[in-house]
Amino acid sequence: MALDKKIAFLGGGNMTEALIKGLIASGMAGPDRILVADVSTDRLTHLKKTYGVLPQKTNVDAVRDAGIVILSVKPQVIDKVLAEISPVVDNTKLVISIAAGVPVAKIENALKKGSRAVRVMPNTPALVLAGAAALAAGTGATADDLALSQSIFNSVGRSVVVEEKLMDAVTGLSGSGPAYVFMIIDALSDAGVKAGLPRPLALELAAQTVYGSAKMVLETNEHPAKLRDMVTSPGGTTIEGLHALEKGKLRATLMNAVEAATARSRELGK
Ligand SMILES: NC(=O)c1ccc[n+]([C@@H]2O[C@H](COP(=O)([O-])OP(=O)(O)OC[C@H]3O[C@@H](n4cnc5c(N)ncnc54)[C@H](OP(=O)(O)O)[C@@H]3O)[C@@H](O)[C@H]2O)c1
Repeated sequence: MALDKKIAFLGGGNMTEALIKGLIASGMAGPDRILVADVSTDRLTHLKKTYGVLPQKTNVDAVRDAGIVILSVKPQVIDKVLAEISPVVDNTKLVISIAAGVPVAKIENALKKGSRAVRVMPNTPALVLAGAAALAAGTGATADDLALSQSIFNSVGRSVVVEEKLMDAVTGLSGSGPAYVFMIIDALSDAGVKAGLPRPLALELAAQTVYGSAKMVLETNEHPAKLRDMVTSPGGTTIEGLHALEKGKLRATLMNAVEAATARSRELGK
């Protein structure tokens, strides 16, 4: 589905670059429909040179011309940017914020009454078009706004819709999750080296195993326990490994990690 409106990115950093890549690759928006504003002229030059998108002098210039506005600056500067753009945002525009921890009500309150806002928590695998994003609608956003927002984030992976109160849990799981999985891949790779494999080969096998296993869960829709049972033969090697993981409390450790990150997200949001 091609977007029928221009899309403006405020902040031209990593996440914006991932979304630009996804929008162009999926055919949702041509570069001539994508506007970007950033305080860094280097970033603007890079994005124009690499993707052919249209750099804008100011956030206000970008917003004025667009039907969809993506707030992609760090949470620390969101107040400043909202104050700047509020005079030119009315309810003909959809505002999508990806700023971590910023409540959608805060966005709505800073804009004109009846503004349409959606809050999104993406994650870094969006950079390789395999992101996981969760979206929560503001009070002024329509079902179409939510569907449109989902299609934008589906262009860089997949997305789900949640109630906003679940955003801290999303942050603890999929927001921070890539870091947990990177640690797991690193540990598996070390384990391979300990068992005698050369490092590059161990890393490649570890990463591909995590990737392939995740793909199997998503593509078969089978419960992971069923898929695990399929590779666990009686008295075999896998059950030995699984027993060691149970003794090391892998499951409880991962649950503790998500719980701790969720609690921290809640704390930072206060
Ligand atoms: N990366 C992630 O994994 C991730 C995950 C979930 C949510 N998010 C959220 O996504 C948003 C963007 O993250 P990111 O990783 O893309 O950040 P980033 O790479 O730092 O990009 C933000 C860009 O905005 C620019 N900027 C600063 N002040 C500005 C202003 N007043 N007007 C316009 N542009 C301005 C920055 O320039 P300078 O660098 O020169 O200041 C930078 O180029 C953040 O709110 C973050 O919380 C990111």
